[in-house]
Amino acid sequence: MHDRGTRSSHVANGNRMDARAVKVGQPRVRGASGKRRRATLVRLFVSGALQMTLLGCTTQNRDAMSIPASGTKMDAYPSVDATLGERLYPDELALADAIGESIERSLRAQYAAGDILRDAHPKAHGCVRAEFRVADTLPEGLAHGVFVPGARYPAWIRFSNGARDATRPDIKGDARGMSIKLQDVPGTSLLRESDDAGQGAIQDFILISHPVFFSNDPRRYLSVVSLASRDSAASKVLIPFHLGLRGALIALKTSRKVISSPLQTRYWSTVPYQLGTGLDRRAVKYSVRACSVVVDPLPTQPAPDFLRGRMRAILNDGDACMEFLVQPRTSPEMSVEDSMTEWQEPDAPFHKVATLHIPRQAFDTKEQNAFCEALSFNPWHALPEHRPLGVTNRLRKVIYDRISRIRHEGTSGGPSSEPR
Ligand code: HEM
Repeated sequence: MHDRGTRSSHVANGNRMDARAVKVGQPRVRGASGKRRRATLVRLFVSGALQMTLLGCTTQNRDAMSIPASGTKMDAYPSVDATLGERLYPDELALADAIGESIERSLRAQYAAGDILRDAHPKAHGCVRAEFRVADTLPEGLAHGVFVPGARYPAWIRFSNGARDATRPDIKGDARGMSIKLQDVPGTSLLRESDDAGQGAIQDFILISHPVFFSNDPRRYLSVVSLASRDSAASKVLIPFHLGLRGALIALKTSRKVISSPLQTRYWSTVPYQLGTGLDRRAVKYSVRACSVVVDPLPTQPAPDFLRGRMRAILNDGDACMEFLVQPRTSPEMSVEDSMTEWQEPDAPFHKVATLHIPRQAFDTKEQNAFCEALSFNPWHALPEHRPLGVTNRLRKVIYDRISRIRHEGTSGGPSSEPR
């Protein structure tokens, strides 16, 4: 087990180090120097502008983009909680379906020959058994839902890449995903059909290795997804244009991080969730970081899947431990509809509420990898006390469900009786 002591030979690892941490180099972001990045973006925009003139495709056409009638019934789409600051976007439901449809179309094309993988985060670095251990005492106002002092839940954690290419070498910059699934949770989740019959509810927490997300606007997201699904370099050049400068910068920063171990990286929910129900319900965000500040150096000769190798090595030697943090919103200025703006920690500190104990294990087996591939994570696999908030989370409800269903097509009639 790694303790929170320090050792000088380490390289930072996408973590935002806390005050006690070793000051050994910041996360290595390839080609990250501000000047070079600005030059890259200017070059992108200039060529983008050129392309647009050439292709005659301008953002103004975005509104004319054909948005098919929505397949999802209004009652199946999340309602909004105006008290917590939620508000529905125009055409939001139709846009959610259009995004789902665009992703489905491109996945069916991409995987025409075989099993359909996830659209995002398709490459698993490892999927491990764990135990979610809630602290014996919790900060005031945080004891809601699964956060019951002293409670323990069996859990599965899937660590993943970010990009759509499941063969991308780990040494290349990329976002990283961490998906946690708690089982045997008392109560019923919002997507009750996903609960384990007779065994209790399922509570998922889904995080990535960057504190903010690159898009708030479903219309922009649709145009980006449509461009990304086209197989032409020209359309890819247009993506930063459709993301907007802020979105493009966030996407660039997120996708350029290089990590040395998924178990030593920090993750954020980026989008908010409700905590509690009734009058004292509030908005929070989540984060997970390693219990130890020790960060292993990058390998000198990285194998394409070295991150899986790192997890195997650490969990062969002993247990691993990660801290689960909750960040309560401290001001209504902190919008639940804006996942591109970080709630600054000095203004809204994170509080540790639980520990993820990952016991020593040989996780990299054919059976466990296949079991993991079949798992489906969805922010709406959640108790009402942890209801997802904001437009990005509302879109995810229908899109994750849709993509998970096509992934399970032809696999013994969809999600098996194993945890979903
Ligand atoms: C509108 C915005 C988003 C869309 C359309 C989207 C779409 C998707 C889709 C289609 C999947 C695969 C689901 C499956 O096949 O089971 C997925 C997985 C994932 N997404 Fe998103 N996503 C969005 C926002 C986010 C955000 C804000 C986060 C940040 C935490 C995130 C993190 C992840 C992770 C970690 C996975 C992998 C889950 C697993 O391990 O199975 N996504 N996303």
